[in-house]
This record gives sequence, structure tokens and C-alpha cells, in this order.
Amino acid sequence: MTAIAVVAGDGIGQEVVPVAQEVLALLHPEYEFYPVEIGYGKWKKTRTACTPDDITLLRGADAILFGAVTTPPAADYRSVVLQIRKELDLYANLRPVRGEGVDIMVVRENTEGLYSGIEWQEEDRASTLRVITRKGSERIARTACRIARERRNLLTIGNKANVIKSDAFFRDICIRTAEEEGVPYTTAFIDALTLDVLMHPGRYDVIVTTNIFGDILSDAAAYLVGGLGLLPSANIGDSHALFEPVHGSAPDIAGQGIANPVAAIRSAAMLLAHLGDTRGAALIDNALRLTAAKGITTPDTGGTASTREVGDAVCTAIRRLM
Ligand code: NAI
Ligand code: MG
Repeated sequence: MTAIAVVAGDGIGQEVVPVAQEVLALLHPEYEFYPVEIGYGKWKKTRTACTPDDITLLRGADAILFGAVTTPPAADYRSVVLQIRKELDLYANLRPVRGEGVDIMVVRENTEGLYSGIEWQEEDRASTLRVITRKGSERIARTACRIARERRNLLTIGNKANVIKSDAFFRDICIRTAEEEGVPYTTAFIDALTLDVLMHPGRYDVIVTTNIFGDILSDAAAYLVGGLGLLPSANIGDSHALFEPVHGSAPDIAGQGIANPVAAIRSAAMLLAHLGDTRGAALIDNALRLTAAKGITTPDTGGTASTREVGDAVCTAIRRLM
């Protein structure tokens, strides 16, 4: 029995995750889905956004389908997303950016760097410790090399080694790993790289980088392919895997039924591929293509369809393709 933990979360997570779950259930009626309540909504009720029991529920799943959670600017609120990534050791954040003339995989280190969570505040100073370890760098570099070999076999190591010592450490470990793995690589400074990715996306295949740089680069690259509403991601560790849209809870459009469900549906496709059903993943991709070709899209991508209407059209297309 395959068990999928479903965390809809906050805001539009509540709208797009049910659609993605429906797509999965259509292809795999044998999957068992169980909801796990996590997020700001839960915090408002209980003062805890994610309990140890919730983590245990997540650990018990074969894969986790995740929406988004709101992080309020409250000093006593700890980021749930960071907590889950750390507890489940989801060290590789894979963010494919695909569209016309663009096929890039951002491989972002997901557990350390500037998101190490080691932070403190004094009167007139706030500090965050940026930790880069050999183990963390080596395993993300190996993941990136493996993915590069399955793709066009070109690795770009994004870094800021010219200014930040911990980034020189990261870059050098990535270089050594790529050489060991026999994967052709180039290195590039992340600021210039971001501009070049936007100007010449066709030059790039797999880009490996540290936590915050990967976060920013992948959001920026979303510009190339129609926006945040389309981008899926996978958070992979050695024992657990979580799939979520790149976007957040979008409070500005939540509750209106117009959130784009494509990022969540594509995340479901990545979940299937991870569980070994590459045919199902390809089927979802085809169904999404057919639906977009018919002009059935939400307002963020120029259409007039609702979340539900896009979801229904994708399910109809899948039924036809199955
Ligand atoms: P956001 O991604 O939620 O929204 C940015 C902009 O893109 C908004 O204008 C929004 O309407 C639009 N957008 C995002 N997804 C869309 C979709 N599926 N369809 C149509 N339009 C979409 O980022 P923002 O506004 O910076 O953050 C909002 C909240 O989400 C914050 O509390 C933040 O902490 C949280 N967040 C959570 C993440 C997670 O759970 N993994 C990731 C990013 C942000
Ligand atoms: Mg982000």
C-alpha cells in the first residue's frame, strides 16, 4: 500500500492541493491519502504550527504532497518549511524550469547555508549563521551529477566564491565531485549567472547552488516560463520525499478560486516519477499540455478559467489518455 501524506497548508495551498490529489487518485486509485494539518492556520488555533506527531505522520508516508504555508512576520514563529526539511533531512531541492526553449534543473542545497536556522538578535544587531558543511556540499553535488547524467550532462556550479569563503568551500567540493563523477562542469558567480540564465536559458542544463541562491534563482527563472503558478519542486532526502509548488500561500488571491493549480499538479507528477511511475508522470505532462493548448488557464497566465475548471480539464484529458 502506498501512503501519501497530504499537507494542504494555508491560503491557496487549500485550493491547489485538492486538485493535485485528485489527479493522483485518478491515476492511482489504490493510493491511500491522509491529511496532515500543518501551518499558520493551525498555529492560530493551537499556537503550534507543526507538532512532533505531525512529523511522525510525515515520516510514515511514502511521499508527501505539500501546498504552502504562510509564515507570519511574528518573532515567536518558527518556519515550518525549514523545520520539515531539517527533520526529514530533505537535502535536495529540485526545481525544474521548463518551457519554450528552456529546460533547466535547479538543484538547490536545502538544509544548510543561510537557512541554517542558527540566528540570534542583540539590541542593535541581528545575525544569521551561514553554515556550509563538507557532507552537505558533497551530497548535493552528487545528486546534481546524477541528474546531469540523466539529462544533457552539463553542470553549472553557481556560487559567490569571490566574496564569501563558505562559497569557495562549496564550489571546490562541487568541482571535485564533478571531476570524480566525470560530469563536465562550469562555475559561475550567482549574480551574473542569474542574468545570463534569463538572457540565454538555452545554455543551461543543471545548476547546483547553495540554499538561498537556489531559492532566488529559481523564482527569477520562473519569469522565463510563465510565472510562479507553473513551477513544481521536489524536496528529496535519503529516506523521505516531499513535493510542493515553488510558490507560497499567495494571500493576495487566496479564497477567490483563481489560483493556478499547474505547479501543484506538476509537483504531483514529480511525486509519481519518484515512486517509479514515469508513465503516469508523462501522462500528466501531456494532459497539462493539452489543457493549456485549449486555452484553459487561470488569470495569472492570461486565461479566465478557475482553479477547479483547470483541474477538471486536466482530469478529463488524463481519462482520455489513460
Ligand atoms: P507567493 O508565491 O505566495 O506569491 C507571490 C505572487 O505570485 C503573488 O502575487 C501571488 O498571487 C502569485 N502567485 C503565487 N502562486 C500563484 C498561483 N498558483 N496562481 C496564481 N498566482 C500565484 O509568495 P509571497 O507572496 O512572497 O508569500 C506569501 C506567503 O507564502 C508568505 O507567508 C510566505 O512566507 C509563504 N511562502 C511559503 C512557501 C512554502 O510553503 N513553501 C514558499 C514561499 C512563500
Ligand atoms: Mg522561494
